[in-house]
Amino acid sequence: MVDILERIPDSDPLANAQQLKTIDRIIDEHKDTPGSTMVVLNEMQSVIGFISVPMQAYVAKRLQVPQKAVHGVISFYSFFTTQPTGKHVIKFCMGTACYVGGTEQLIDKAKQVLGIAPGETTPDGEISLEICRCVGACSQAPVIVIDDKVFGRVRPNKMPQLIKELQN
Ligand code: FES
Repeated sequence: MVDILERIPDSDPLANAQQLKTIDRIIDEHKDTPGSTMVVLNEMQSVIGFISVPMQAYVAKRLQVPQKAVHGVISFYSFFTTQPTGKHVIKFCMGTACYVGGTEQLIDKAKQVLGIAPGETTPDGEISLEICRCVGACSQAPVIVIDDKVFGRVRPNKMPQLIKELQN
């Protein structure tokens, strides 16, 4: 844990005085609340936009909980991200109906067009690809969600156009 905090990259929110102040404020506000780890991480995700590995170590240190526990929460809930996400996010539903309906082919097409895989962001910071669980629109499978808007019965040949619209 100490090692991670000794080598904080310049790009990390912990290395930015303003963001560090925000992070400290969130921790100070909630550190005595029951279930503080979840509450702190939740607010940090929505305010900062992601929770890097050094940020996880910092939260663990300040809340005096094992870093493993913080990491466990982050990896269990899909709404936590460990890297900054792009301006636009395309989520691919991996629920059973969508998976059977062809989600993998949609991902392959998006990979081909953007050159990135789920969990990654384009180098210009414009578009991130993510996997999500069932969004409750199974009858429309396969489903993707672009910036919280649901698109159903998407075919692979539709992907380039959808991506192009985001880029314009
Ligand atoms: S499985 Fe994709 S919306 Fe339900």
